[in-house]
Amino acid sequence: MKVLFAASEAFPLCKTGGLGDVAGALPAALGQCGADVRVILPAYPAAQSKLGNDAQPLAVLPSPHGDGGEVRIFELPQPNTSDPAATPSHSGVTTLLVDCPRCFSRDGHLYLAEDGQPWGDNAARFACFARAVVAYALGAAGDGWVPEIVHTNDWQTGLVSALLRRHERPPATVFTIHNLAYQGLFDAAEFSALGLPFDLFRPDALEFYGRLSFIKGGITFADRVTTVSPSYAVEMLGEELGCGLDGLLRHRGADVSGILNGIDTSIWNPATDPHLAQTYDADTIAQKSVNKSALQRELNFPPDPDAMLLGFVGRLVSQKGVDLIVDNLGQLAEMPIQLAILGSGDVAFENTLRALGGNKRFAFTVGYDEGLAHRIEAGADLFLMPSRFEPCGLNQLYSLRYGTPPLVRRTGG
Ligand code: ADP
Ligand code: GLC
Repeated sequence: MKVLFAASEAFPLCKTGGLGDVAGALPAALGQCGADVRVILPAYPAAQSKLGNDAQPLAVLPSPHGDGGEVRIFELPQPNTSDPAATPSHSGVTTLLVDCPRCFSRDGHLYLAEDGQPWGDNAARFACFARAVVAYALGAAGDGWVPEIVHTNDWQTGLVSALLRRHERPPATVFTIHNLAYQGLFDAAEFSALGLPFDLFRPDALEFYGRLSFIKGGITFADRVTTVSPSYAVEMLGEELGCGLDGLLRHRGADVSGILNGIDTSIWNPATDPHLAQTYDADTIAQKSVNKSALQRELNFPPDPDAMLLGFVGRLVSQKGVDLIVDNLGQLAEMPIQLAILGSGDVAFENTLRALGGNKRFAFTVGYDEGLAHRIEAGADLFLMPSRFEPCGLNQLYSLRYGTPPLVRRTGG
């Protein structure tokens, strides 16, 4: 089975959250089951830098921006096994990069500008990406490799199914919803600017209450719609978590299902994890305490083995229930606990947490730190994840793997 897996991020090349983990691990896992999978990603600078200077494009497409430029598709060379970012599970999967400098050659967050707001040209960026995915899926590279399934993920790839449908005998498409709350909604004016076929701006296509919705492209036009846990597949059909799309999802009926995410057990493995002070497994679980002491040192906590160390890693947004932690800090402080928080996101949450700094039993690390995320999973006694909703959630699965009980709300994964 030939599968083209399209996503806007994939670990270790580019990641902002769980989508990156899944896009980094699932294609390789499908490959191990015998599928012939190719991953296609935007060529952000970190990925672009892995292309040699003499890299030849597999396909050259006219730029959709009307600037006379080109969009090129490259194949990423297989990772060098001495590269610390290359893990066994990632080698062997063919990775394609969509190179459009105007869209993707910029530093900073993948989706957000420095002010925390989405990049002003996100519609153009991901429409350009979708067009390149469609062209590749229809054989633009001319190498005879034609996917039987195009697996798209989240709103950034929502237009792919809508555009593929317009061709004769297109490959089958799957659209996976990792988070229904992020929809790729843009003003109607963007629709004309993107030069999309006019008949797509209808309520039964991409229009959503007068606006352009990328996610509707996937939900409406993909042959199958999946989400990342069976519970969320039910939750998103209701008004509370349906984000206005529950009616459309109910309309898709049996085409919608939930498949629980897996985790990459070679990367998230306490027995081999290079980020830890001390590796351990189920038989040597007592060694886990070495990681707790190391984390206490790293975060300047008193070296108290009896203090219960609570950990939180995640995007600081209301979905994750950050305010539920913040609002209860007073009560928590009356207990013999230490609390380690790693995350970035809403400026208001960042500022509130920063203001609490300087407390010997509370450490807030703002930013993105892959190593510290692993050390919190290993060093904490309890992992806090009070998410209001959580389509799957990988962090609670990682904590189970690290022998750190997750304290969660009953939702999603
Ligand atoms: P979501 O995809 O909603 O952000 P998940 O639990 O599915 O939530 O996945 C989050 C992923 O992102 C995990 O791999 C987690 O370790 C990682 N992550 C989130 N925030 C940070 C951060 N500040 N530093 C390092 N890793 C982070
Ligand atoms: C999303 C969801 C998260 C899920 C991840 C990977 O970001 O918020 O719950 O685990 O995607 O599917």
